[in-house]
Amino acid sequence: MSATFPFTTPRSLDNEPEAQTLLASEGPVVLAKMGPIDIWLALSYAACKQVLTDPRFSREEATRPGGPVTIPSAANPLVLTSMEGGKHARTRKLVASAFSPRMVATLEPRVQAIVDALLDAHPADLVAGLCTPLPTMVICELLGAPYSDAPDIRRWTGVLMTSVLTPEELRQAENDMQGFLADLVEEKRVRPDDKLITALVEAHDEGGHLTSAEMLANLQMLLAAGHDTTVNQLGNSLLTLLRHPAEMRRLIDDPSLIDTAVDELLRYSRLMAATLPRVTTEAVELAGVRLEKGAAVLPILSSANRDPSVFPDPDRLDLGRAGAAPLAMGFGPHYCLGAQLAKLELRIALTSVLKRFPGLRLAVDESELAYRMETNVRALVSLPVTW
Ligand code: HEM
Repeated sequence: MSATFPFTTPRSLDNEPEAQTLLASEGPVVLAKMGPIDIWLALSYAACKQVLTDPRFSREEATRPGGPVTIPSAANPLVLTSMEGGKHARTRKLVASAFSPRMVATLEPRVQAIVDALLDAHPADLVAGLCTPLPTMVICELLGAPYSDAPDIRRWTGVLMTSVLTPEELRQAENDMQGFLADLVEEKRVRPDDKLITALVEAHDEGGHLTSAEMLANLQMLLAAGHDTTVNQLGNSLLTLLRHPAEMRRLIDDPSLIDTAVDELLRYSRLMAATLPRVTTEAVELAGVRLEKGAAVLPILSSANRDPSVFPDPDRLDLGRAGAAPLAMGFGPHYCLGAQLAKLELRIALTSVLKRFPGLRLAVDESELAYRMETNVRALVSLPVTW
């Protein structure tokens, strides 16, 4: 066994040949070392999709003590991503009834207003001036919290999405965020509004409400899952466009391409190498490889999204690409609950940047761009631009 995870190639938008090379040279399912444990990497689109949809690959099993962990804060048994089957379906339905498409649609004018205000300041660094503040300001709108809370939310979510952190650091960030959320929930109980927390407090089914602990844990997860991902997908999307001037021009000339463009940028820019690990509940065959009960499995989204059997000419950016959905936001029962919101932010931010600054270009040589190393996602430190 020679493969290891996390992959070791230096981070840049192009560099991550390991997953694709492994898929091409060793096949769709490969055994690797992740720290002290053995883990199967699901590298092809079909293998990833099976792991994400087949109930024999369990998130619940993966969060038991000793299980494979890639993000320590995601191992909390009360959160959606740690549940399976009926329990997951019930909790997801309650959370989804509050975080509804209607609630997201009502945010559209607010997202546009936030983006316009951020661009009015003519940010010389798009990471600091647009990508970082936008998702937390939108989260404040969603929760019904003042924008003055945005910097704290940003700090806590930063810690919660860190891949390597001490138990004390994790506990401290969780305590801080849970304290903030508990106060906000109390406030909404006294003064209900038309935002997500009030809707979550009021959500119920025949089995009753979410308990306070379930509500707080899932709110925290919503914030953590929705922050780093959106910030960095926006940064990576902008850089990808800057590196492909002809495709960028195509989008400027035909803004109606924006929906397929957002999907293609999710596929192409490889935000995360992997999503959360699973553990098998029984012996199971995955793309011709027999896995025993209790095997750890990691869906490698970055290679699945460049699988040539599903995406012809996979290393080419094509903002009009049709066909299979990329797996960047997962698939099946745990499919990203915030997908509609994230895509709304990406759509509005990219459209507005290109409309306002059609001559946008990098202000530094691309080799000077740096990536943060403490997180699981491909995260630009800064994106200096001029126009
Ligand atoms: C570009 C931005 C985003 C990306 C790439 C992304 C990606 C993902 C992926 C890959 C999963 C599947 C996890 C798995 O099955 O292992 C997921 C789940 C989830 N995402 Fe997102 N996400 C994004 C934005 C958001 C936002 C904005 C929110 C909320 C505000 C959010 C909330 C969630 C939640 C709650 C789940 C868990 C659903 C469940 O377990 O049933 N995400 N996301």
